[in-house]
Amino acid sequence: ATAVIAVDGPSGSGKSSVSRGVARELGLRYLDTGAMYRAITWAVLRDGVPASDPAAVASAACSASLEWSTDPDESWIRVDGVDVSRAIREQSVTSAVSAVAAVPEVRALLVDLQRGAVRSALAVEQGIVVEGRDIGAVVLPDADLKVWLVADPGVRAARRAAEDAAAGRAHVTSSESIAADLARRDAADASRAASPTTQAEDAVVVDATHLGLAEVVAAVVGLARE
Ligand code: CDP
Repeated sequence: ATAVIAVDGPSGSGKSSVSRGVARELGLRYLDTGAMYRAITWAVLRDGVPASDPAAVASAACSASLEWSTDPDESWIRVDGVDVSRAIREQSVTSAVSAVAAVPEVRALLVDLQRGAVRSALAVEQGIVVEGRDIGAVVLPDADLKVWLVADPGVRAARRAAEDAAAGRAHVTSSESIAADLARRDAADASRAASPTTQAEDAVVVDATHLGLAEVVAAVVGLARE
């Protein structure tokens, strides 16, 4: 298939697992644009640039060279030849990424790279699943399918607690741990307010609140085959 599928939505909706699963199932490439924003943020921090200085962030971003895998079974990303796949998940990067992603030059740079990655895939007759927040609305307005993935974190946390209890993992089921999980997600979402998360007008809303991963993947694969 040479389909281009955009998967967008707020954090905590399970976009990465779903996008990877859809790419595997349909034999498509997979691009994690959040990892690209995180990798640029890693470069900014490496250079000792304050994330709050947009001009300095823009210049650090433009001098960093990114390489990445689009294999859904083997994800990695490099900055100037250094594999940062693990480092970009650290708290320092997570704390700074919203500010870096809000810099227009950073967005312009990454949007160009993202469109280039899609062109490269299509050039060898490969489709691609592109995951992010602005893919359907901004990066790939002509995508064949645009999915807007949502999930209620409260319902998902409660459901996971019930599953943990059924599996005998009682320690995870305390109401304090559910509350802590919700508080952590709320704080993370609030700190991301500066990054655009934009629903395309022609996006299909998929609500993952009451579905397992396999069911969400099946739903998106079904939409792609329509
Ligand atoms: O942690 P989570 O999976 O929610 O986020 P991510 O996909 O790893 O993306 C990290 C950050 O990059 C987001 O919080 C946004 O600030 C930014 N981002 C963006 O601005 N535009 C995108 N297309 C993807 C990510």
